[in-house]
Amino acid sequence: MSKERGQFSSRFGFITAATGSAVGLGNIWGFPTQTASHGGGAFVVAYLILAFLLAYPALMAELIIGRHTRHNMVAALPQLSSQPLPRLLGKVTGLYGVLTASLILSFYAIVAGWLMAQVPAAVADISGQSPAKNWFAQSSLARDGLFCALFSALTAAIVARGVKDGIERWSTRLMPALILLMLGLVATVLTLPGALEGLRLYLIPDFSLITDPALLTSAMGQAFFSLSLGVGTMLIYGSYVSKSDNLPLTGAYVALIDTGIAFLAGLLIIPAMFVAQHRGISIYNTDNTLIAGPDLILQTLPELFNSLGVAGGIIGLVFFLLLSIAALTSSISMLEVPVTFTLEQFKLSRRRATYWIATTIFILSLLILFNFDALFTTVVSVSTQYSQPLLGVLLCLFAGWALHRDKLLREISAGFPAAEQSFFWKIWPGYIRFICPLLIITMFVQNISS
Ligand code: TRP
Repeated sequence: MSKERGQFSSRFGFITAATGSAVGLGNIWGFPTQTASHGGGAFVVAYLILAFLLAYPALMAELIIGRHTRHNMVAALPQLSSQPLPRLLGKVTGLYGVLTASLILSFYAIVAGWLMAQVPAAVADISGQSPAKNWFAQSSLARDGLFCALFSALTAAIVARGVKDGIERWSTRLMPALILLMLGLVATVLTLPGALEGLRLYLIPDFSLITDPALLTSAMGQAFFSLSLGVGTMLIYGSYVSKSDNLPLTGAYVALIDTGIAFLAGLLIIPAMFVAQHRGISIYNTDNTLIAGPDLILQTLPELFNSLGVAGGIIGLVFFLLLSIAALTSSISMLEVPVTFTLEQFKLSRRRATYWIATTIFILSLLILFNFDALFTTVVSVSTQYSQPLLGVLLCLFAGWALHRDKLLREISAGFPAAEQSFFWKIWPGYIRFICPLLIITMFVQNISS
């Protein structure tokens, strides 16, 4: 078994792949737009706190279970216990995770398709092809379906190549490109008039907002989504990590880079909104709240780019390229979840499993596209607002209660010999058993009841 299983070739390979998974539309689209709709700096502060208080410990739970069992979530969780009930619960939780990962991919591929279409739109614009530009830039069933198909095919092509030659290779190519493009864009936008006002909204928190339950639940959901938690993505990536890696440290790098890039994206988009306002583009809705969501990314920002002439065209091109790359290194990690499950459960070849699963999920995406108003937001909220936190709780409980303390310590000590004396070992096991699940459930209930 272990001979056929892929493994990342190095710690660097794992870190790029895991941050590739973590850094995606959640960071560059989700985080800034949520910040815009929750009053700026206060959301940023709440997010940073929750990312390290809740998301990082939950990430560690997944990585540790994954490396310990070396299996996909459905096979991994039952292995943690010898009692029939937890084993059954493990299996059900695993299947729920696989299903949720597939649902997330089905809407993620649609959104990624919208963004990818903006790349040829920008090229057509720069070269003065206005009818072509309009076709690519504006939503239609044909355009959305085509680009969703293209994005899904790219995702499948990488996953079919396996862990080292597909996922790791493409993540190490794409992630540095992403960071460079982002830094370039931030530097450019911050020099434009109006940027300072955005910077102020972004960086100076209004602490009176920070106890707002809606803000806190959104920040928690955002942190879970951004670190790809709950559905077994990080569990699978953990199962490809070598025993000689220091997991708590490696996990901390992933959380830090992910949070850092979300922060950087906010530094780009919030100031860009105010640059747009400075140029006469409206950035407020009729009820005086800041524009957020698709309107911000697909209308306000392109309007801003347009108003900046040729330079704006190039900035727009780079921006949407960046989003497409970020989406791709994330979508491969989602597809990897159902693919590894089918591959290990039904002994299919990786190629065949990828083909079947990717096709099924694409059909799901088409179903959503054809019934957009009825299905899109429902699928998003069922999978991310409800299922992800719930699965997060279950995974914490499995790591904390089902995995024996000695085994846990042995797993962490592999690659981290001083683990037993570490701060991590003193805090984390108790934390993951009680505090994490309680905090998540409290926020979850609050969210449902409001
Ligand atoms: N974290 C990614 C982002 O921020 C999305 C993602 C990848 C994801 N894998 C996941 C989200 C698994 C939830 C579950 O865009």
